[in-house]
Amino acid sequence: MRLLVTGGAGFIGANFVHSTVQERPAVAVTVLDVLTYAGSRESLRSVDDQIRLIEGDLVDESLVDTLVAECDAVVHFAAETHVDNALAGPAPFVRSNVVGTFSVLEAVRRHGVRLHHVSTDEVYGDLPLHGDERFTAQTPFNPSSPYSATKASADLLVRAWVRSYGVRATISNCSNNYGPYQHIEKFIPRQITNVLTGRRPKLYGTGANVRDWIHVEDHNSAVWHILEGGVCGSTYLIGADGERDNLSVLQLILALMGRDADDFDHVPDRVGHDLRYAIDASALRAELGWTPKHTDLTEGLTSTIAWYRDNEWWWGPLKEQVEAGYTERGQ
Ligand code: NAD
Ligand code: DAU
Repeated sequence: MRLLVTGGAGFIGANFVHSTVQERPAVAVTVLDVLTYAGSRESLRSVDDQIRLIEGDLVDESLVDTLVAECDAVVHFAAETHVDNALAGPAPFVRSNVVGTFSVLEAVRRHGVRLHHVSTDEVYGDLPLHGDERFTAQTPFNPSSPYSATKASADLLVRAWVRSYGVRATISNCSNNYGPYQHIEKFIPRQITNVLTGRRPKLYGTGANVRDWIHVEDHNSAVWHILEGGVCGSTYLIGADGERDNLSVLQLILALMGRDADDFDHVPDRVGHDLRYAIDASALRAELGWTPKHTDLTEGLTSTIAWYRDNEWWWGPLKEQVEAGYTERGQ
């Protein structure tokens, strides 16, 4: 199989490329990535002689057309992904997430190529803090932020291209990922690297907001299940029953790193901050036989902390600038 992976130099995409190269040597991987601040050649360094990395933009329709024509399937990860950045400046989110997805859809339509579109649970908005309700594929879209609105827009484009043009596409909406190679602007790696650099972790508001954590390897194994066994036109929700409030996750990181439970700062809350996400992944488990492997958050965080401790070469050069940006925003 010749596989085109958009956004393969970002967090989830790079992990996907690593596991694909390792576990599926017959798959020829091409990565298309424009290498924004969130993408890095370094994330693919250990596999660079086993893949082809094309530095280019999703909105370059002629480049996307050429690459799609050469492949059997596309896994579309590329996007602008950080909610705080979207709140500060939404324009790149509309460009990459909406126009970029349009460009991919037009190319797969022209060439009859199979597409898997990677999306987020944030398209469904948020759930009440206390309760059992979880997102399913039937939950109506209700995005809160410019980021989630652009991801919902992209999902709607994919659905329309399936219905109108018979494009062979599946969609997945996954919950919060963690693991190696995640940009240090995001919650878990930010707090780990704050501790590693002698800074105090920063918690938005009271820390009551709940996220449904999944290890990136489990997300990516679900994507392979859907690519191989998913029904075109279907949406699959991916989650591993990992609900935790932010304060508990932070205090677990502090404990695992030998720091006191109150050794952090409260900082101003994110505007429009989604309260709770929770995924019902029973359809994916039942239909495609997928099961997550990393269901113990303490184990997952222990190995993630070890990865950041051992790989300062990867994140160290970014730290000052990322924290300066947060300081400017008062967070
Ligand atoms: P990331 O920000 O770490 O990486 C995104 C990658 O896309 C970067 O390498 C960037 O250079 C590339 N990119 C951005 N705009 C591009 C463009 N116009 N052309 C080409 N490349 C471009 O993101 P991530 O956390 O790895 O997320 C990957 C995908 O998974 C996204 O679609 C995101 O919405 C989705 N998702 C993420 C999570 C999560 O918790 N991180 C959860 C569910 C779904
Ligand atoms: O649910 C899936 C989504 O998860 C993905 O679609 C997004 O791309 C990804 O960024 C993530 O979105 P969140 O906004 O949930 O993730 P983030 O890491 O930014 O924040 C997680 C929670 O932690 C959130 O409630 C805000 C809070 N937070 C975040 C940061 C960066 C803090 O308390 N302190 C922080 O310093």
